[in-house]
Amino acid sequence: MSTLLIENSCQLQGTVNISCAKNAILPIIAASLLTEDKCILEDVSALEDVKVMIEVVNSLGAEVKLNKDDVLEVSAKKILSQDADYDLIRKMRASFLIMGPMLARVGKVKISLPGGCAIGSRPIDLHLKGFAAMGANITLGHGYIEAHADKLKGESIYLDFPSVGATENIIMAACLAEGVTIIENAAEEPEIVDLANFLSKMGAKIKGAGTDTIKIEGVRSLKGTTHVAIPDRIEAGTFMMAAAATRGDVLVEGVVPEHVKPITAKLKEMGVEVFEYEKSIRVKATERLKSVDIKTMPYPGFPTDMQSPIMSAMCVAKGTSVITETVFENRFMHISELKLMGAKINVDGRSAIIEGTERLSGAKVKATDLRAGAALIISALCAEGRTEISEIYHIDRGYINIEEKMRKLGANITRVE
Ligand code: UD1
Repeated sequence: MSTLLIENSCQLQGTVNISCAKNAILPIIAASLLTEDKCILEDVSALEDVKVMIEVVNSLGAEVKLNKDDVLEVSAKKILSQDADYDLIRKMRASFLIMGPMLARVGKVKISLPGGCAIGSRPIDLHLKGFAAMGANITLGHGYIEAHADKLKGESIYLDFPSVGATENIIMAACLAEGVTIIENAAEEPEIVDLANFLSKMGAKIKGAGTDTIKIEGVRSLKGTTHVAIPDRIEAGTFMMAAAATRGDVLVEGVVPEHVKPITAKLKEMGVEVFEYEKSIRVKATERLKSVDIKTMPYPGFPTDMQSPIMSAMCVAKGTSVITETVFENRFMHISELKLMGAKINVDGRSAIIEGTERLSGAKVKATDLRAGAALIISALCAEGRTEISEIYHIDRGYINIEEKMRKLGANITRVE
């Protein structure tokens, strides 16, 4: 098992390049199942979650090749199996995104209930309600979901909550359905827009992606295309937060400033200087951060995936901050680890009250989920002494070469196998 060792606090300085968005590329790989042509995806980072998605589409019959120059080719000429591998689906929740494409392309799929980060019960009822409304016959039993539909039919679907995954799954299914599908109260995340752009290049007819109402007119077939996914706004936000918490000066390059607006706004409120350029953002902090309050919300609200990284910054801010987590009901597992490092945090239901302290202290901690792991790295960079982070496979699911990128900014961080 690998661990990350981080010695002593430091002020991050320099430039960091952001990779392609994990949450954009995963649905796009799944969407490549919608055509028998080859899809070419450029600038793809070999994240652990990406490798799992590659294995999933491969297990269904797609030929997949990730070249050394980060070009991913997916060719689903024939779908050979309708049974998604149980262990692969259990490994990562996003693998459930193959359900929409499979129903649309072959009209049949058997898939296990999904796994993923343990940050809440994370049901899939909204995905299933959408498919059922489109005419799919769905049965559940023994940990599996089986669905079939001779031909999906367009329908008006209102989502009780703007779920990112359900919106993506329904859009993909609707692309090859008969007639028009309208999704109301749809998720508006930039990754939805990127998926819609990819599908449109394949020949899909989609309007309104990025708003709460998306209209999809089904077409008979889709063709192959080439695409570069958007930059990872959460990776960018993590480095912005690390720069601020360590009172550093970092240029975050390869980012869409619009996508990180809620993070930029909070950093400014914390007293940080943030300079926005066309495709980069500079974060410069000279003073101890001020406390702030945040509430996580669907986009364009403050992202739940940035909740733990900003908590690490709040731990060393002056004054008391409050975080209210409204998206996932069990996303505070990092708190017990942060407390081991001297953080002063109390939890009251869905809120965490963080009393800032001047310095944290290094400790042996474990990454309880992907973003919790990122938060521990930020805290370790603000701590005296040595921090050892275990269970870092969670971090590798969503950050590529994180220790190299941090080291280039001056962090004393090493991976020990
Ligand atoms: C995606 C992101 C994840 C991010 C989350 C919220 C990917 C691969 N992952 O996850 O990083 O934290 O959006 O921005 O893109 N829900 C239901 N029923 C459903 C579906 C969801 O009740 O059928 C609930 C969930 O339990 C959760 C909330 O809706 O409380 C948001 O979930 P959702 O937006 O679906 O997140 P994911 O797509 O799983």
